[in-house]
Order: sequence, then structure tokens, then C-alpha cells
Amino acid sequence: MSIKRVSAKPVPKGKAGPAKRAADPPRLTRWPGLIEHYRRFLPVRDDTPVVTLNEGNTPLIESPELARRLGGDIKLYLKYDGVNPTGSFKDRGMTVAISKALGEGARAVICASTGNTAASAAAYAGRAGLRAFVLIPKGATALGKLSQSVMHGARVIEVIGNFDICLKMVRDLAERDPVRIRLVNSINPDRIAGQTTAAFEICDQLGDAPTYHFLPVGNAGNITAHWAGYKEYLKQGLSSRLPKMMGYQAEGSAPIVRGHPIDDPKTVATAIKIGNPASWKQATAARDESGGVIDSVTDAEILAAYRLIAAHGIFAEPASAASVAGALKYSASGGLKPGSTLVCTLTGHGLKDPDTALKNLSNTIVVEPDLDKIAAVMDPEMLLLSRRGKQ
Ligand code: F0G
Repeated sequence: MSIKRVSAKPVPKGKAGPAKRAADPPRLTRWPGLIEHYRRFLPVRDDTPVVTLNEGNTPLIESPELARRLGGDIKLYLKYDGVNPTGSFKDRGMTVAISKALGEGARAVICASTGNTAASAAAYAGRAGLRAFVLIPKGATALGKLSQSVMHGARVIEVIGNFDICLKMVRDLAERDPVRIRLVNSINPDRIAGQTTAAFEICDQLGDAPTYHFLPVGNAGNITAHWAGYKEYLKQGLSSRLPKMMGYQAEGSAPIVRGHPIDDPKTVATAIKIGNPASWKQATAARDESGGVIDSVTDAEILAAYRLIAAHGIFAEPASAASVAGALKYSASGGLKPGSTLVCTLTGHGLKDPDTALKNLSNTIVVEPDLDKIAAVMDPEMLLLSRRGKQ
């Protein structure tokens, strides 16, 4: 899960070797993780111990197929944050939050989670030698995420209640011993600071900010962090514009769209099954300041986008597909300006949620080891080809 692109470093003059090698691509360098790379933008000191799994520097994959579907003269890129070390964007904030927690003497971390924050907290706490307590809603956490938390040695506490209840519990628990127990949900500003790096990377990879940035919205930390990151890069003169922030909630879990908390949120995209987002105000500020939109997409739209991106080689979990579903919905409404550059964030890897994948596509079939029987269940055209091959 860690396909990386590393930044190019020129070969020093006089060391280029024989002339025929001059055109060789620059040698790969080792990506140090996002704290080292973006240190000057992050709330770390020289003596902060850096707890890293070399997260960040994720691919920005152009998708001409999706761009064609959206129609018109646009460019579309998928920011595949699902290839971070634990398979989600959460590692960006977690490297900073856990480094700070360790540096400031915490002994344990705690979070509420729909699964990804828990997996990331568990992994980074393990790396740092801290204990991790994760509260997850019972029966609503994807299998991959749960197995990660277990394997990384977190104390996994399944609460009979939803994410919003878990978040309330961990806030209260962390308050009881704030010195030794650090809360690592995105209400911790170190998490948001780390997640701003996704916006920095996109500007660095594209050469500027995109025109639109589409994101799934759950607890609303990521849209908040991206907006802060884009504003910072503009302020530093490292980009020339700000994107419109386009956030998408699942229809059955869309408190921001509805304008009130949802007591019993529902969606197939369990990662964003949240009825009362902690960063609600910041998310609406990002929307309003950027001239963007926070809207909802149905589970059917999410699953259609989920299959579409997978059919083109990229496996992202259902919540991630809300960004692409949002772009499809927005373009269908005629909102997209021609000549635009779009980025859709794919927040988590598809392997996180194998159950949903297998429920949604049934193209496996069981047969005996018999050539004719296997040929019979193959595509008829392929069958024709295999017969011709025999002649
Ligand atoms: N996509 C995925 C895969 C997520 O795991 C989450 C959030 C989001 C999108 C939404 O991001 O909350 O910053 O608006 N997952 C949290 C968790 C809630 O506990 O793992 P957000």
C-alpha cells in the first residue's frame, strides 16, 4: 500500500558518468516523510521526536476517462491518499499528532473513529511506543480497518453506539488526564496541521492549485485542513490561486447539507457515517470563502463512482468515491467551468473494506478444473480467440 513517487534530485555536475547516460532520469531519492519535507509549515520544533512511516508524497493520477465523462475541456486528477502507509489520508495528521504527543510526554493516545483514524493512531502509537485506545462504533467498521487496529496493538473498544457518541466519550476521557492521554481526533490542531500537506503536495505536483477540489466530508477535518493548506501556499507565494472547495456527504449522513445534526446517520460509506461533524463551522467557512459547495450524494451514486474508478485500475474505499460522485453530480448540473482543473481526493484504499467490494460485484464463478467448462464461462469473444489459437 505504499507506492511512492519521490522528488527528483539533479545529478551533481561532473558526476554524471559516461555521456550516453546523460539523458537518464535523475536517481530516486528517499522520501523522508512529510514532517521533514514540509517542516517549515508544521508545528514541530527541532527537538520534537519525529514519528514517521514515510507518509505523504502520494500520487496525483490523471484520469482522462473520468474527465471525458464529465465532458468539456477539463483536466481531472485523483489524489490517491489511500496509498499512505496505513492506507488512508489520516497518516498525514497522525505523524504530527503522535510526534507532538511523544515530545510532550504523553503516555497514551485515544480517539473515536469510523476505522481509519483508529488504524492510523494504532500504527503510529506502536511506532512511538505509546499505548493506543480506540473507540469505534460496534458493527459499523470495515474489516480491513478493524484488523489493522488489532494488529498494531491498540486496545479496541467497540461501543454500542455511533461515531458521534464515541467522539463525545473520548473527549470526556481525554479531559480526565490530558497530560498522559492525548486525544488524536481531528479536533487536535496537530492533526489538521499535518493534513494541510495534502494541499501543499497538490500545488507542488500540479505547479499551482486546481480550480476545484472535491472531497468526501465526514467529521469535516480534511476539508478544513485542505482549505488552510491552500491559503497558506497562496500566502507564501507558492501558488497563484485558491480552489473552490467541493465537499460531499452521503445523503443519509448529511448534517451540513440539511443544516442540523442527524441522530441516526446511515450510509454504505461507513467512514463518513457521521451525524454531527466536529469541524462543521470550519467546513462551511471553507465552502463560503472559496465559493464552493457542500452537497450530498446518494449511496447509489457513491457505489457507481466506486465501481467506475475501480474499473479504471484504482481501488478506493466507498467514502472516497463520494468525491468522484460529487464531481459527476456537479458536472451534470452544468456547474463546471470549461478549462478547469479538478482534483478528487481518494481518501482511503479499497482494501480497507473488502466486504463492500464483494457485495457489489459478482464476477467470480466456481468451476471444476476442466478446460471446456472454464472456456464456457469465459467471454464468448475470448472463447473464439482461444479456438483460433488451437488451429
Ligand atoms: N474518507 C475516509 C476514507 C475517511 O476515513 C474519512 C474520515 C473521511 C473520508 C472524511 O474525512 O472526517 O476529515 O471529513 N474518517 C474518520 C475516521 C471519521 O474515524 O477514520 P473527515
